[in-house]
Amino acid sequence: MRIPLIAGNWKMNTTVGEAVELVNEICQGLGGVVGVDKVVCPPFISLAAVKELLKESSVRLGAQNLYFEEKGAYTGEISPLMVADLCEFVIIGHSERRQYFDESGEIVNKKLRAVLKVGLKPILCIGEKLEENEVGRTEEVVTEQLRSSLDGIDCSGAMIIAYEPIWAIGTGKAATGRQANETIGLIRGKIAKLYSEEIAREVRILYGGSVTADNIAEFVEQFEIDGALVGGASLKAGQFISMVKQTQEIFYPTNPPTKDLVEW
Ligand code: 13P
Repeated sequence: MRIPLIAGNWKMNTTVGEAVELVNEICQGLGGVVGVDKVVCPPFISLAAVKELLKESSVRLGAQNLYFEEKGAYTGEISPLMVADLCEFVIIGHSERRQYFDESGEIVNKKLRAVLKVGLKPILCIGEKLEENEVGRTEEVVTEQLRSSLDGIDCSGAMIIAYEPIWAIGTGKAATGRQANETIGLIRGKIAKLYSEEIAREVRILYGGSVTADNIAEFVEQFEIDGALVGGASLKAGQFISMVKQTQEIFYPTNPPTKDLVEW
């Protein structure tokens, strides 16, 4: 069984003080909620402070990006070794990075290689633009993104993929549960072809794009969807807590687990 995962991508929001306050509230609200992996991805500058607060918590830490070189004269960049020192997860290839920072499939591939080399768990983002969706090119686009991102990479069950249609990000216009399930099923099929049925069964695939406490259930009750990568709504502790709790109820309708299912 794939363990559900709810990840908060805080993007370029929160000062260190605000991040500390938000994570404290999240931890208080999620104390006893197990069986769902909970990940927060604050800005780099807050990672060390947030890590301290997560010591006794089941909430895990992720970064939003990194550079693929290990160290050296790359002013302003953060290396995989630095991220691995603090985090377990890292978001790679978010559409905002592809769009505003010209991240090509080749760069995403280099970053993924660097991430796996240091033992971080990648959350690889893929998704089509509105105009691509409208002309029925979704499958073609996500297939090409998978192919270029994963080229030459030994994918294991540790890989996490987030399907985030660009038209749904920050727009308040989420995909429907059915739409997201269909594309995620398709992505899982591609993973099976690229690797194996077994790996495709293990890889967690999340939906992202205008997910909130009001619509999370519609996504996590779908067969193929293993959780969500949440932007705006993850900046409100109450929303994040509610999304995790609803996911727990949907995944374990009768017997909620009494301890986390993953040994970290
Ligand atoms: P929103 O939840 O704000 O639409 O953002 C989604 C996203 O980009 C998460 O990575």
